[in-house]
Amino acid sequence: MAQTTEPAGTAGRVSGFRSAELGWPRLERIPHPPRRLPLLGDVLGVHPRTPVQDSVAMAARLGPIFRRRAFGKEFVFVWGAGLTADLADESRFAKHVGVGVANLRPVAGDGLFTAYNHEPNWQLAHDVLAPGFSREAMGGYHPLMLDVARQLLAHWDEGERAGTAVDVPGDMTKLTLETIARTGFGHDFGSFERDRPHPFVTAMVGTLAFAQRRNTVPVALAPLLLRGAERRNAADTALLNSTVDEVVAARARDGGGQGDLLDRMLEVAHPATGERLSAENIRRQVITFLVAGHETTSGALSFALHYLAQHPAVLARAQEEVDRVWGPTGEPGYEQVAKLRYVRRVLDESLRLWPTAPGFAREAREDTVLGGVHPMRRGAWALVLAGALHRDPEAWGEDAEEFDPDRFAPQAVRSRPAHVFKPFGTGARACIGRQFALHEATLVLGLLLRRYDLLPEPGYRLKVAERLTLMPQGLRLRLNRRSAGTGAGA
Ligand code: HEM
Repeated sequence: MAQTTEPAGTAGRVSGFRSAELGWPRLERIPHPPRRLPLLGDVLGVHPRTPVQDSVAMAARLGPIFRRRAFGKEFVFVWGAGLTADLADESRFAKHVGVGVANLRPVAGDGLFTAYNHEPNWQLAHDVLAPGFSREAMGGYHPLMLDVARQLLAHWDEGERAGTAVDVPGDMTKLTLETIARTGFGHDFGSFERDRPHPFVTAMVGTLAFAQRRNTVPVALAPLLLRGAERRNAADTALLNSTVDEVVAARARDGGGQGDLLDRMLEVAHPATGERLSAENIRRQVITFLVAGHETTSGALSFALHYLAQHPAVLARAQEEVDRVWGPTGEPGYEQVAKLRYVRRVLDESLRLWPTAPGFAREAREDTVLGGVHPMRRGAWALVLAGALHRDPEAWGEDAEEFDPDRFAPQAVRSRPAHVFKPFGTGARACIGRQFALHEATLVLGLLLRRYDLLPEPGYRLKVAERLTLMPQGLRLRLNRRSAGTGAGA
């Protein structure tokens, strides 16, 4: 097994769901909602389509650690700053592949995101692919990111000229899918030439929604209740596989040399052991990157655009920054993107209120005591609820529900405890694509802000759709082309 960094742990080599009573000997110390029904559990007042938002609402009532039971499965949720910091201690805790993530195993197998800590392919793929996210690699992706962004601008120009509102989540999904597909795999899905989403996107949304749904259906009833959904899911999975197989076959036919993620997967051996990724694992990784590499970023961009449109003063300040920092330059260079400090704060603040990957699970490497109060057996796990952590008044103040990008001004960040902002997870299994996502999203926001004023649709109230990730639903914006600082080329 490749071993250049500390493995994420071998705790709890248990696959499949592990209910909390097996791992938490003093479960009675953890509060649960008051009206628990026999057999059904804590289902009153909750909706199967919004488990995350329901949990965040419960968190405020039940405190920094709580549990929910549904159909015989008990989950522990953690969101208090102190307990989250404890779970971030890599010497005692590691990623847990559970709940929604484990449901993606049939699609993504031992790909980076869904691999169990003890699976050798995690370390192998991590070490082979990490250089694909170095500063140098990112600099190479930048021109391709600009190409895709230009397609978005052309599309939005049409909307602006026609006076029609643009479909924000739909267009952000086109943008981010094209970006990861082209930068990572040299593949063009042609999303902007299509009226409807690419079938890959439809299949992906189907598998994510199915993975979430499987958590909310009793195991015993799943064969009955999910029969039709299982069939659709099998078809979706087959489409994901065949799309990816085509992408890989095209590279084999046309030859490599791009130095992108796919080249790394196909050609690069592990620096220490000389091992290579197998064909089956490459398939899993390509699916993983195509899905993980676009869905969450498109949500982050969509929420940011929503808040910008709702807060004219923030919009004006962000536009002023882009005009000042980029000036009339047609093509912002790689280095110019990170200089948009305020735009980046807008993005961080949007990810604070709506972390588009709404949580991550942590398991005990050995028997331990969480926060000095809650004993956990080896392999016991808890879900960190980022949406609640990010709205904790103790960490963020009484106005935690308000949108205010200045919370991410350097001094404000320094004054907060560590581990209260976790949109990208934590530790060895934190997001490998963090810099990629931030660069892409800041670049695109800069280009959009420079070109348009954003106007909300009258009466729109934010509604958030859940399919493992979070996405604003039905968000449309009207655009006005600005006269200042629109830059020539992009
Ligand atoms: C705003 C955008 C993004 C957010 C909020 C996000 C969030 C996350 C989170 C929370 C995790 C950890 C999950 C866990 O602990 O179970 C994660 C892991 C991961 N992300 Fe991201 N992500 C984003 C963008 C990206 C992009 C652009 C890529 C690829 C280009 C990517 C690829 C991955 C991969 C491969 C992992 C698994 C890493 C490992 O376990 O070794 N993500 N992401």
